[in-house]
Amino acid sequence: MIIRDAVEADLPAIVEIYNATVPTRMVTAELEPTTVEARLAWFREHSPEQYPFWVAELDGRVIGWLDFKKFLPRGAYRGTAEISVYVDEEFRHRGVGQRLLEHAIARAPSLGITALVGLIFGHNEPSLKLFQRLSFERWAFLPRVAQLDGVERDLVVMGQHCPARSPAIAKSRVQSQTANHFNDSLNLMHTLMEYRQEPIHSKLLKIRDKYSMLHLDVLILIYHFAKICSGNILEIGAFVGGATIAAAFGVRDSGTRKKIIAIEPGGSVKHKRLGTRNIFRDLERNLARQRVSELVTTIKGRSFDPTTISAVNEMLGADKVGLLILDADAAKRRDIECYRERFADGCWMVIDDYYGADANAKITPSRADIDSLTTAGCLQALGFYGWSTWVGRWRGPQR
Ligand SMILES: C[S@@+](CC[C@H](N)C(=O)[O-])C[C@H]1O[C@@H](n2cnc3c(N)ncnc32)[C@H](O)[C@@H]1O
Repeated sequence: MIIRDAVEADLPAIVEIYNATVPTRMVTAELEPTTVEARLAWFREHSPEQYPFWVAELDGRVIGWLDFKKFLPRGAYRGTAEISVYVDEEFRHRGVGQRLLEHAIARAPSLGITALVGLIFGHNEPSLKLFQRLSFERWAFLPRVAQLDGVERDLVVMGQHCPARSPAIAKSRVQSQTANHFNDSLNLMHTLMEYRQEPIHSKLLKIRDKYSMLHLDVLILIYHFAKICSGNILEIGAFVGGATIAAAFGVRDSGTRKKIIAIEPGGSVKHKRLGTRNIFRDLERNLARQRVSELVTTIKGRSFDPTTISAVNEMLGADKVGLLILDADAAKRRDIECYRERFADGCWMVIDDYYGADANAKITPSRADIDSLTTAGCLQALGFYGWSTWVGRWRGPQR
């Protein structure tokens, strides 16, 4: 089972799990089933950085979910979040809710949350026990505040303080951040393995053979990030479209509208498998062949040309970039500086040319740029994949 950020394409499964609990009168105070349309605005209020919405996924199926929301709107309650957890009927009593709650407790400090509360009906014994097992305490009891089919029901507020920012527990906070980081890296490896059993694996293998210099694992991760990211996708150095097509497939499978902007100056390349006399023409032709042209906006130019930067800004408008694919020349820092204002916090980043023979003039400066941005806390490494690709997230200051 993996826990990942929910995307809009998960909403039908999320609503189905939720609706199954309505007639039980045990879990939710909602009296009628809801719909995907009615829940869209609520879903969009979440953000991975502050009020995340996670799903538990098993064999590609959503089997549970957990969301964070504001406990109360006033500023003083900013650090307190309310969490709700729902598990598919078929998968109850298998530890799914516990895994989701443990994940929430572990991640709370890095989300700036200092207290978690769960609002649970007094007659929902299984949920009360689950929260107690995970060190939640009974903080409030509101007698007979709910009317369910003519029966008055009590509400219990279960709460738990998360490690505060005092020096005494700063160490445990750092430890929990390290544990989260480690978990995120492992989840990524796990996700990649899971894709090996999916049809997209062989589909991307063909794309790689025809159009890409990147390793298949990297294309799969690009597909995955494009599918799950919130925000748009910016690619620098599209070449003849291998990574662009992988991202487009991910966007299509996400069921969500996301812009893909691919920058490529064109030219020619001598290469045994992928040689071309006209990179840009082949890029456009390949996007058309794979029927993804309408999902991608190509920009003919170099990443740092002022005209390219303003074209990207114009296309993005107020929107952020949720995935950066950077595989151009050695000047990684230059390209990141050109677009850093546009990156969402946590923007997924796939940056090539981190490993390779020392003789390769691209590797040493590329790696130096990535390492210095990582040391400065702007980049968070989550792993190294394929032949030479660095994978991680943007953690630079948000202005
Ligand atoms: C290694 S290839 C990219 C391979 C591609 N990611 C794939 O899946 O096969 C690098 C590409 O970056 C382009 N490039 C080089 N400098 C660039 C720049 N400043 N801005 C945008 N693209 C650039 C090159 O023309 C070349 O097509």
